[in-house]
Amino acid sequence: MSTDPIARLLSEHQDLMARLEPFRRAVSTAPEAADDATLAALREGARIMTTDLIAHAKREDDVFFPALEAAVGGAFGPTTVMRSEHASIHAGADEFHATLQELNEVQHPAIVEGGAKLRRLVEDAADPAALRTLGAQLLALIDDHFAKEEQILFPMSRNLLDESQLAVVAREMEELDAR
Ligand SMILES: [Fe+2]
Ligand SMILES: [Fe+2]
Repeated sequence: MSTDPIARLLSEHQDLMARLEPFRRAVSTAPEAADDATLAALREGARIMTTDLIAHAKREDDVFFPALEAAVGGAFGPTTVMRSEHASIHAGADEFHATLQELNEVQHPAIVEGGAKLRRLVEDAADPAALRTLGAQLLALIDDHFAKEEQILFPMSRNLLDESQLAVVAREMEELDAR
């Protein structure tokens, strides 16, 4: 029996955030000349951002977002709505598409690129101040991104995907994991 995929993505957010907590502290409180524990937290954060966070984003990019795109065509399609509702439906659809596009095409690549850059900086033993600056920027981006998914996309997805569509998404995520 597969887990509900929206619940799975949400619990992955919580897990990633909990594991990034030492990184968040290191970024916000580290002295200019970082000690070993701070450097270790920065290194571990960079590792999470270039492994498990990427895997999470890939589940969304490859499985979850395409399922929403497919479902939204039906849900917002002209055949399923009354003429008088078109204006508000279209506004809703436009907002949905704009949000999905920002999450998918702007923020995910920025997270991937920023994580890779941070990892290179850590590996090159860069100036701690530079690490903190980039680390803080990345955390702000991830906070914003997770908030948009949790407050806008996931609740909308609950209305868009029925039980059987959710089951398909869950199974496809598991197939992606097995690859
Ligand atoms: Fe995402
Ligand atoms: Fe996410």
